[in-house]
Amino acid sequence: MKVHILTLFPAMFEGPFSESMVKRAQEKGLLQISLVNIRDYAHDKHQLTDDYAYGGGAGMVMKPEPVFEAIESITGPSLKNAGIPIVLTTPQGQRLDQPLVRTLAANAEVIIICGHYEGMDDRIREGLATHEISIGDYVLTGGELPAMVLTDAMARLQQGVLGSEQSLLQDSFNGGLLQYPQFTRPPEYKGMKVPDILVSGNHGQIDKWKRQQSLLRTARNRPNMLSKATLTKEDKVFLKAQGINPD
Ligand code: ADE
Repeated sequence: MKVHILTLFPAMFEGPFSESMVKRAQEKGLLQISLVNIRDYAHDKHQLTDDYAYGGGAGMVMKPEPVFEAIESITGPSLKNAGIPIVLTTPQGQRLDQPLVRTLAANAEVIIICGHYEGMDDRIREGLATHEISIGDYVLTGGELPAMVLTDAMARLQQGVLGSEQSLLQDSFNGGLLQYPQFTRPPEYKGMKVPDILVSGNHGQIDKWKRQQSLLRTARNRPNMLSKATLTKEDKVFLKAQGINPD
């Protein structure tokens, strides 16, 4: 897939996109990232991308023209009707979650507009954005980190980016439950032991234990996720026995 990122700070992306899985995904040709500097589309002599707010108020507001022109350079005149999702990162947006990542990652191309820390002319949202996305209920200094988060999450869903075993782990999250605890050698460290069941070799029991641990973690840390997850009869019996109401 191809991800176009519109930003005033393209250098911020250099480190995160040149390491680990995102780097490998690009090297394998599974992911293409195009960084578009919004300032390149500011045509006045000072290359201004922001201006004072109409009606007063603190802070500068990002101007619409450079952002519209940057998008047009990708989509042509159809802009938000080109069939390419245009994501605006903003604390006012819909909360990003795995189902939304999956929906966006299924597109051949996605455009991300990094929101501006002080504000953006609302015509950018109205006239360009097909999705407004927040990565959580806190305010960052700009939309660059959220754009990296979204790109990373979409990258790992591209076919061939993860190994087959990791892809299976991925599925466990897709079931709507949190990951179970994992261990490697040594079998005991600082008095903390690897659970006996994991070294028992009994794969039926191990799978059952993993499922139960996922259920317990989700119930403890993210009860809202548990109420949305697909639970079997056996899951519900287990949770009730733990004093947890599964519904
Ligand atoms: N811009 C600033 N804070 C943000 C957040 N939490 N999510 C998305 N974009 C943002």
